[in-house]
Amino acid sequence: MISLIGIREKDFLLFEADILAIERSSFSSPWSRNSFKEEVTSPISHLWVLLADGMVAGYICFWMFAGEIHLMNLAVHGKRRKKGVGRLLLTKMIDVGQSNRVHEVWLEVRPSNLIARDLYQNVGFMETGRRPRYYSDTGEDAIVMSLSMPEKDMGL
Ligand SMILES: CC(C)(COP(=O)(O)OP(=O)(O)OC[C@H]1O[C@@H](n2cnc3c(N)ncnc32)[C@H](O)[C@@H]1OP(=O)(O)O)[C@@H](O)C(=O)NCCC(=O)NCCS
Repeated sequence: MISLIGIREKDFLLFEADILAIERSSFSSPWSRNSFKEEVTSPISHLWVLLADGMVAGYICFWMFAGEIHLMNLAVHGKRRKKGVGRLLLTKMIDVGQSNRVHEVWLEVRPSNLIARDLYQNVGFMETGRRPRYYSDTGEDAIVMSLSMPEKDMGL
């Protein structure tokens, strides 16, 4: 069984260990515990975990404000990859954005992260720019990608 749970500060303790384990095995410069704690207390930030059979399979973190979404973090457990979890998290985020009159979704990705770039392209993001030397650990540029969303038909 699959479920998607929005995490706020009071729930974070329950999922903290699993989230941090996935984070540390997924990124060369992982977010710290404090980074996640800031997100779960921020009014504009959303942290969702996807549970599959009671286990954390992945999570997504994004900011939603002023008609835009900024994707901040996305990772899937190493053993759960290539099964559609990343795509599901992204498409749910886009659905929620559409229901909240978001018109544009933004993200940054490392040029070397071909898998993530493929996923983003696959769900409709387009490369719209570069931020030079954005990643301080490697000095890599960031590729900026965006997705423009048509207004949802409210049936009026
Ligand atoms: C990027 C990541 C979130 C993808 O999650 P996932 O659950 O494995 O992805 P999905 O199974 O939903 O795959 C969806 C699409 O992503 C792309 N993709 C996923 N794995 C891929 C791989 N190994 N090689 C090439 N493309 C891949 C494909 O476009 C795929 O579509 P397809 O199944 O039709 O081929 C996951 O690999 C991950 O956690 N990576 C480490 C953290 C990271 O890089 N996060 C993104 C930071 S910008």
